[in-house]
Amino acid sequence: MLLHGWGCNREVWRPLLVTLRPWANITLLDLPGCAPGVELDDPLTLSNLLTAILECSPSKAIFVGWSLGGQLAVELALHAPSRVAAVVTVCSNPLFVAQGRWPGMSADLFHQFCDEVQEDPIEALQRFDTLQVAGSLWPRQLLRRLQKYPREPASKTLLVGLGWLATLDQRESLASVQQPQLHVLAAADTLVPSALHASIVSRLGAVPSGQVKTLQGSSHLMPLDAPGPLAHELRLFVIAAGMFRSGPHTSPELEKREVAASFSRAAAAYDSVARLQRDVGERLLLRLNQWQKQPATVLDLGCGTGFFCTELRLRYPMAQYLGLDIAQGMVKYARERGGVNCDWLVADAEALPLASESVDLVFSSLALQWCCRPEHLFAELARVLRPGGLCVFTSLGPNTLCELRSAWAAVDSHQHVNSFLPTCELVAAAERTPFITMSLESEVFCMKYARVRDLLDELKTLGAHNMNRSRRAGLTSRRALQGMLQAYERLRLQGFLPATYDVIFGVIEKK
Ligand SMILES: C[S@@+](CC[C@H](N)C(=O)[O-])C[C@H]1O[C@@H](n2cnc3c(N)ncnc32)[C@H](O)[C@@H]1O
Repeated sequence: MLLHGWGCNREVWRPLLVTLRPWANITLLDLPGCAPGVELDDPLTLSNLLTAILECSPSKAIFVGWSLGGQLAVELALHAPSRVAAVVTVCSNPLFVAQGRWPGMSADLFHQFCDEVQEDPIEALQRFDTLQVAGSLWPRQLLRRLQKYPREPASKTLLVGLGWLATLDQRESLASVQQPQLHVLAAADTLVPSALHASIVSRLGAVPSGQVKTLQGSSHLMPLDAPGPLAHELRLFVIAAGMFRSGPHTSPELEKREVAASFSRAAAAYDSVARLQRDVGERLLLRLNQWQKQPATVLDLGCGTGFFCTELRLRYPMAQYLGLDIAQGMVKYARERGGVNCDWLVADAEALPLASESVDLVFSSLALQWCCRPEHLFAELARVLRPGGLCVFTSLGPNTLCELRSAWAAVDSHQHVNSFLPTCELVAAAERTPFITMSLESEVFCMKYARVRDLLDELKTLGAHNMNRSRRAGLTSRRALQGMLQAYERLRLQGFLPATYDVIFGVIEKK
């Protein structure tokens, strides 16, 4: 259940839906007292609103509330605990108006604002919008999107909502919420100060299932400003709380066909732009320095053009080298350039056409992020590795290309950038796989580009453009592209545009 805040409506959640819907049933509501022009049949009291929300909710749900919606979620957890599986507040203050040393909006500003709502609600809402986007890297784009929301005059109900903001004080009650709770704050929030982090932590005290996180680079309007990082935090929280069930995705096989086709097309030009792939692969080779064994069989999993074939064969001249990739075009290209003692296979890493216990060393660089079922992948690695065998790999984590994702988020709510599994899902899958142990480390690689178009061209040439299942079908409009380019430009630093790669280095040992 996603509960919006004061002065907005359910549309504010839309950018998160592409990422949340593949694994969660989502209900959105327009809340009387918060959404302009939305009324309740019964008199609008807090208790009637909570009852109305529960009437629209499943028998048990995770309640995620933004701003005043966060306070409503906490009220629901306190008053209807059997209906609430967990609570997440986003940019929400347990006591909205500052009091003593408790951080919040100044009382003067709040009362002045209430007067403005009474006098001219439409103008007051517009002013409120500017307060919400303050601190964002792309305030103008966010304002334009907010201003598309309906603004019907509804001063009475909006004043009731402001009354709740003025009076709700949940500072003491947070610690008595029994369910897992997560409080997400925004570092650049000018309405709900991020200084609250320490205050909430102290109120949660010893509550073991309570967490507070502050996301950098977001304003108060986090669902529109940083939907990717917020959706990521939600997913991590739900996994950690043991409530995650992966949804019925569209067939991974279909998606794999698309991945294979895209990399096949890219084979001939791939090496000319694979700067990051070279650096990361070289670093991965260094990890082998500590491994003293001489393997009889080396599997290069997701070998691409076979670039690392030469180096692996230099290291292990007596070994049989096996290059395997899902993309036929890549394997054809690699085979034409490979030397003696090399074999090449077109196959899927999640269903290896190899005998059990037939491989001593698996080397895999920047390929496994395309595998969406880590439990299948690890089961296959555990099966084909000989006892005492080793797999070293690199993959990409969810923060990869966060700048591009945020720049698109300033324009629309479609998924334009590939999203990759969080490390906790890899760890959980490896822990469930018998006979292997896995260790992971993450490292940020920051690439620099003169123009956003250079990054987009590079992704296309690599064959690694957006292939996520929830991406939007059809073409992106020229206007949306222009908007994204402008939003990205704001990140220019010392003449360059940064692009983050969240690289995961992993080692798997077979017992
Ligand atoms: C970014 S390239 C990396 C290639 C090479 N390892 C390198 O570092 O240059 C990713 C490769 O993984 C392959 N790949 C993607 N999904 C795969 C899967 N399920 N099984 C095997 N290979 C896969 C792609 O076809 C592509 O060639």
